[in-house]
Amino acid sequence: MSDFTNGFWPWYVAAISLFSVLACGLLLYLASKATVVTHPGKVADNTTGHVWDENLSEYNNPLPRWWLWLFILTIVFSLVYLVAFPGLGSFSGLLKWSAEGEHQQDVTQLRADVAPLYTAFSAQPVEALAKNPQALAVGERLFMNHCSQCHGSDGAGSKGFPNLTNANAAWLGARTAEHIVQTVTNGRTGLMPPMAAAVGGEAEMSEVAHYVLSLSGSPHNDIKAFSGKKLFSACAACHGVDGKGNKTLGAPNLADDYWLHGWGEAAIVSMIKNGKSNVMPAQSPKLSAEQIHVVAAYVFSLAKTSTGAADSAASAKPP
Ligand code: HEC
Ligand code: HEC
Repeated sequence: MSDFTNGFWPWYVAAISLFSVLACGLLLYLASKATVVTHPGKVADNTTGHVWDENLSEYNNPLPRWWLWLFILTIVFSLVYLVAFPGLGSFSGLLKWSAEGEHQQDVTQLRADVAPLYTAFSAQPVEALAKNPQALAVGERLFMNHCSQCHGSDGAGSKGFPNLTNANAAWLGARTAEHIVQTVTNGRTGLMPPMAAAVGGEAEMSEVAHYVLSLSGSPHNDIKAFSGKKLFSACAACHGVDGKGNKTLGAPNLADDYWLHGWGEAAIVSMIKNGKSNVMPAQSPKLSAEQIHVVAAYVFSLAKTSTGAADSAASAKPP
C-alpha cells in the first residue's frame, strides 16, 4: 500500500525515523548524566569550565523539569504515533488510517448526504426542475466542471461546439429533455459526408454556397445563388428542401443566422469539400443518471426562448 519504488526505501525511511526518535532520547540521557568537572586549581563553581571573551563562562544547570518532561512526552508521543499511524516506511499503522481512505470516506459521506436531494430532483421532470433554483445551482456546478470547457462557461459555445443558449430552431436536435439527456449520456457524432462529388467543381460549390447564404438573407451573389438552387438538391435529403434542417439526422438549419462551423462562402465550401465529423464524448462514465438529469435541467434553463421557428435572431452570427 505504499508508493515506494523498491523494497529498500521503506526500510531506509523507517530506520531514519526510528533513529531520530531514539537519538533524541539518548541525547536527553547523556545530558542528564553530564557532571561538572572541577578543574584543578579552580573553585567548584558549577560552570563547565569554558570561558569566552575573558569573562563569559557557562553554567552547567540541569534542564528545567517541565521542559524535560515535555521532551520525554514528545518522544513517547512520536513512538505511539508511529505504531498507530503510517510513518515507518510501508508499515500502515495499527489504526489502518490513510489519507486516501479518509478521502473515500468523505466522498461516500457526501454522496449519502446529497442522495435525498438527488432523489427529490429525479422525481421531477427536467422541464419543471429547470425552474427550481436549488437544482439549477447544483446543475450549474456540474456544467462548469464537465461541460464548460467545450460549451463555454455561459453555455454559448464556440466554433464546432454548439451554443446551448440558442432557441430550439438553431439546435442540431430538438431542444427537449430527452434529447439533452440522451446527448449527455451517450454523446453524439454530427456527421456530414464530403459532398464535392455530388456537387461538382469549385464553381458549383461556390454557387451552392451562395444559395445557402441566400437562405438566411446573408449577403450573397444573386446569380450564383440562382444557379446553386438546383445543386442544393444534393443537400436536401439531410438539410431539407427549404434548408431548414432535419433534427432527427442532426442536420442543422441553414436558413438561420447561427453558424456552428463558421459563416461565409469559404466556411460553407469547406463543409461541402471536407464534410465534418463532430464528436461530443459520452458523459455517462463521469456522471450518474441523477447528475445528468440535473445538468439537463440547467441546460434547459439556458435557452433565451423556449420554442418557435422565428426565434433564430436569438443567436448571433459569428463575426
Ligand atoms: C469535449 C467537448 C464536449 C464536452 C465536454 C461536452 N460537450 Fe456537448 N457537445 C460537444 C459537441 C462537439 C457537440 C456537437 C456534436 C454534433 O455536432 O452533433 C455537442 C452537443 C451537445 C448538445 C446538443 C446540442 C444541439 O444543438 O442539439 C447538448 C445538449 C450538449 N452537447 C450538452 C452538453 C452537456 C450538458 C455537457 C456536460 C455534461 C457537454 N455537452 C459536454 C462537445 C462537448
Ligand atoms: C448525409 C446528410 C448531409 C448531407 C447530404 C449534407 N449535409 Fe451538411 N450537414 C450535415 C450534418 C449532420 C451537419 C452538422 C455537422 C455537425 O454536427 O457538426 C451538417 C452541417 C452543414 C453545415 C454547417 C452548418 C453550420 O451551422 O455551421 C453546412 C454549411 C452544410 N452542412 C452544408 C451542406 C451543403 C451545402 C450540402 C450539400 C452540398 C450538405 N450540407 C449536405 C449533414 C448533411
